Amino acid sequence: MTALLERPMKTATPTHAAPPLDAQTTETAPPVPPSLADEEMVLEVRDFCLWYGAKQALFDLSLKFPKGKVTALIGPSGCGKSTLIRSINRLNDLIDSVRYSGDMLLNGASIFGKTVDVIELRKRTGMVFQKTNPFPMSIYENVIYSLRIDGENRKSILDETVERSLQRAALWDEVKDRLNESALQMSGGQQQRLCIARAIAAEPEVLLMDEPCSALDPIATGKVEELIYQLRGLYSVIIVTHNMQQAARVSDYTAFFYLGQLIEYDATDKIFTNPGKKQTEDYVTGRFG
Ligand SMILES: Nc1ncnc2c1ncn2[C@@H]1O[C@H](COP(=O)(O)OP(=O)(O)O)[C@@H](O)[C@H]1O
Ligand SMILES: [Mg+2]
Repeated sequence: MTALLERPMKTATPTHAAPPLDAQTTETAPPVPPSLADEEMVLEVRDFCLWYGAKQALFDLSLKFPKGKVTALIGPSGCGKSTLIRSINRLNDLIDSVRYSGDMLLNGASIFGKTVDVIELRKRTGMVFQKTNPFPMSIYENVIYSLRIDGENRKSILDETVERSLQRAALWDEVKDRLNESALQMSGGQQQRLCIARAIAAEPEVLLMDEPCSALDPIATGKVEELIYQLRGLYSVIIVTHNMQQAARVSDYTAFFYLGQLIEYDATDKIFTNPGKKQTEDYVTGRFG
């Protein structure tokens, strides 16, 4: 009886809920796993914590993202994937209750420095959201939006940017004859590829995507996934997805998060075929989440 009482209290966990953090997960993953050792890095997250009011959402995150590669952020709903990706372009600054500590270095310079212009930062860190958000203007004007803000009016530059960005976004052939039509008339999948074209027209140093396919049908999803795959080499992509197959298909590296902590970070193949931690394995094999 006493032996029983001396054991740590455990509360019953409903079977559909994620298992509690156990001892093995309190040791955090190294910021650069051996598989990334040869990569050049575009973004470094250092001891980053974030709170919404009194509630802590991110715990001491330290990891580096490679240049010219696709890195997937995975983990169960509420584990902090969106919070992390929204911190990178400082969208969380718009929420009054948010506080954070630690740092993020984009190509070596802090994104939180006093002299950082947030509008400029958001161009350097293009963002694509789950819900497509084409602006209510022509396809052409959507693509060159960031150039217009910079006061670029030379037609040759604008035309070149439109063609190059739409080519890279695998949309050019579908829309080249109707560039002056409203972007709002496009299909959902086309709108999402347009949002990607708009983001890459600004030549971002890192391209952030938060579940970019979850509002799309399977065919449109396939096209966007193919596009993300093609962007490697040209852009550094960080993509949040709750779709394991998608992470496995499009990414080079995968970071698994749980309850605001980084649990495991490695080559995507390794995460999906031979993960180092049981919790990662349970998640990628669909045992919880
Ligand atoms: N604006 C907010 N205000 C308060 N809490 C938030 C807000 N956004 C997210 N959270 C909380 O932060 C945690 C992480 O959320 P989120 O980053 O959206 O997770 P994910 O994208 O992995 O589903 C969750 O507990 C969520 O409830
Ligand atoms: Mg999210």
